[in-house]
Amino acid sequence: MNPNKALWEKGDFTEIAGLMRKSGEELVKSLGVTPPLRVLDLGCGDGTTAIPLALLGAEVVGVDIARNLVDAGNKRAAEAGLSRVRFQEGDACDLQGIDDHSFDLTLSMFGAMFAPKPFDVAREMVRVTKPGGRIVMGNWIPNDPNSFVSQLLKISSAYTPPPPEGFISPMTWGVDTHIIERFGQAGVPKENISMVTDTFHFVSPDKSPADIVESFRRFYGPTMNAFEAAEKNGKVEELHNQLLEQANARNMSAGGGTSIPATFLRVTVSL
Ligand SMILES: C[S@@+](CC[C@H](N)C(=O)[O-])C[C@H]1O[C@@H](n2cnc3c(N)ncnc32)[C@H](O)[C@@H]1O
Repeated sequence: MNPNKALWEKGDFTEIAGLMRKSGEELVKSLGVTPPLRVLDLGCGDGTTAIPLALLGAEVVGVDIARNLVDAGNKRAAEAGLSRVRFQEGDACDLQGIDDHSFDLTLSMFGAMFAPKPFDVAREMVRVTKPGGRIVMGNWIPNDPNSFVSQLLKISSAYTPPPPEGFISPMTWGVDTHIIERFGQAGVPKENISMVTDTFHFVSPDKSPADIVESFRRFYGPTMNAFEAAEKNGKVEELHNQLLEQANARNMSAGGGTSIPATFLRVTVSL
């Protein structure tokens, strides 16, 4: 089985995505969507951004490598009575069956960054986007002290066995030189690429920071793998405490519940 696919099908990202709905909606509003607009949401999960895009009138195709998330996305779309969005299985490294220049906007929030062949991903995103269109990516930044997720991924990887040789860290998508090099190879001059930091919030009105850590432990592939390895080494408590410390320290909700900010690099590529 493709290890990239296995990682994301192992957990249930819908449990994490439920904490990201408001930020997903805000991000979509900030894109200035005016129909008619065809959008590809790559690594779409269960539709954190794809569903709000369709609600604003865009025609959306959500592509994700995880079958369970594609099914969850189609279920959410049916429940919302939305026929303008469809979710399908696919790999950001090779968007087979998707024609050249099909989309006005290709969006990937924390999705395509996890695909193992970043140069292929950049090439495919450029290939399927129309000339005059744009690509928008949200990528976690390595070691970012202001991002709960960057810290969670850093801590998790410290407990996970080393990846196979040749593995390219997804976090490299949060570094400007890599981004410029990857889109450069896909034919995009660096003047057409802009990068700013932005923030997502992980929000729950009733879950505590400890509950949020538990959700990542049970449902988020990279953290699940870290806990599995920590169990073998007797380091579960240490790992849990490190994550809990991060979640508690970053929680901004004053009246119960949780609101944890996570900064990311927002990349816009104009074609
Ligand atoms: C952190 S989640 C983000 C999901 C969604 N964009 C959101 O913001 O809720 C990462 C997503 O990328 C998907 N993914 C990982 N590797 C992928 C690949 N090679 N091609 C397509 N999707 C991929 C995962 O299945 C997962 O749904």
